[in-house]
Amino acid sequence: MVVMSKPVILTGLRANNDLHIGNYFGALLPLIDMAKTRADEFEINLFVPDLHSFTTPIEHSQLQAQIMHNLKLFVAAGLPLDNPNIRIYRQSYIPAHSELTWILDCFTGFGQMRRMTQFKEKTKTKERLDQAVVEAELYHKAMQTMGQASNYEELSAKQLELSQHMNAAIDLIGQIEDRQGTASVGLFNYPVLMAADILLYDAEYVPVGDDQTQHLEFARDIAERMNNKFGELFVVPKPVKQQHEFFGKDQGLRIKDLSDPSRKMSKSDETGKGIIFLGDTPEAASKKIMSATTDSVGVVHYDIEKQPGVANLLQIMALAEGGELSSVVDRFEGQTSYGDLKTAVAASLRELLSSFQAKLEQVNEAALLAKLQVDEAAMNEKANQTLLKVQKAVGLR
Ligand code: TYM
Repeated sequence: MVVMSKPVILTGLRANNDLHIGNYFGALLPLIDMAKTRADEFEINLFVPDLHSFTTPIEHSQLQAQIMHNLKLFVAAGLPLDNPNIRIYRQSYIPAHSELTWILDCFTGFGQMRRMTQFKEKTKTKERLDQAVVEAELYHKAMQTMGQASNYEELSAKQLELSQHMNAAIDLIGQIEDRQGTASVGLFNYPVLMAADILLYDAEYVPVGDDQTQHLEFARDIAERMNNKFGELFVVPKPVKQQHEFFGKDQGLRIKDLSDPSRKMSKSDETGKGIIFLGDTPEAASKKIMSATTDSVGVVHYDIEKQPGVANLLQIMALAEGGELSSVVDRFEGQTSYGDLKTAVAASLRELLSSFQAKLEQVNEAALLAKLQVDEAAMNEKANQTLLKVQKAVGLR
């Protein structure tokens, strides 16, 4: 019988690719810091959400190897294997995740899922909607000036302009429907699976990057809704702001893509050019930093809006050094050579990656597999207890 009375800290990292520094600094490290320093006060769960791996297409023949590799990355990042308060597991080895998801699905509004930012981003809905609005505005403008046409040619030119804008807007809306129509139902409702991942284990603290904030809020929302309807079923995760305070930050982290700092660094990006993977050689990582996109301002300032590339480099440097952002900013503020900044960032990352990769070589795979076996059995027991409570509440038992 597993008794979990300590507050639970939990996070998961998909294994559909190698992990990158955004995953590492945004989610893995905050959890591992807790595992190294406060494991006595908490239960700490770190898992591979393998069922989440193919919400977007992947190479399935590589998934098994990637899962094992990513588990080893957890150990190389400092996860202790010898503490029973720290659990590691693979989501699909605990069937309760899938079953709770189905139940929660039936209490989740279609509209709420459709509004999820990640669904809109991955189906490129927002860009197309913005373009359609521009076309509609141009249509409106052409309409207003139609009355100024003084002859037949001008009038028919206006008419052509009108129909072009109208058709473009209709085409864009059609594209949104096509993209959303061909996206998998899994991509659409994966926030529900993520909520099940969290609620099965009574997790209160969930370190995630900024891109997952909305999903965390959804987990709180569905937990509260189910509790209101059926009585106390779930522990509601702490509000996001409180989570950030707990992990010693004031907001979720969002490391940007190096070649396009308007986008987050994302492992679903096929080119890999603007991403630093934990498996990159220190030299390859250096090259990526040296060719990072900056701006034409020519002076180092920490300004996320106006100088997102430079701000991203300063942020990466602070994280790689393990120091305060403000002290890195003070060191470089006002300098006029981006080259010097990049050289310093590249050096700190080279150091981080070489020590990380040396630890990866040392990971004891047999110990890892043995721990997985023990933890997955224990986690099945815990997850089934929560599931049974829910099954009883909804009338299945
Ligand atoms: P995933 O696998 O895409 O990313 C893993 C973690 O890395 C964070 N992250 C970032 N942080 C900062 N900057 C970035 N550029 C960046 N890119 C990614 C993510 O926010 C995440 O914390 N749905 C989740 C996995 C998941 C999960 C869960 C997490 C499934 N179930 C339950 C917590 C609890 C995902 O796709 O993350």
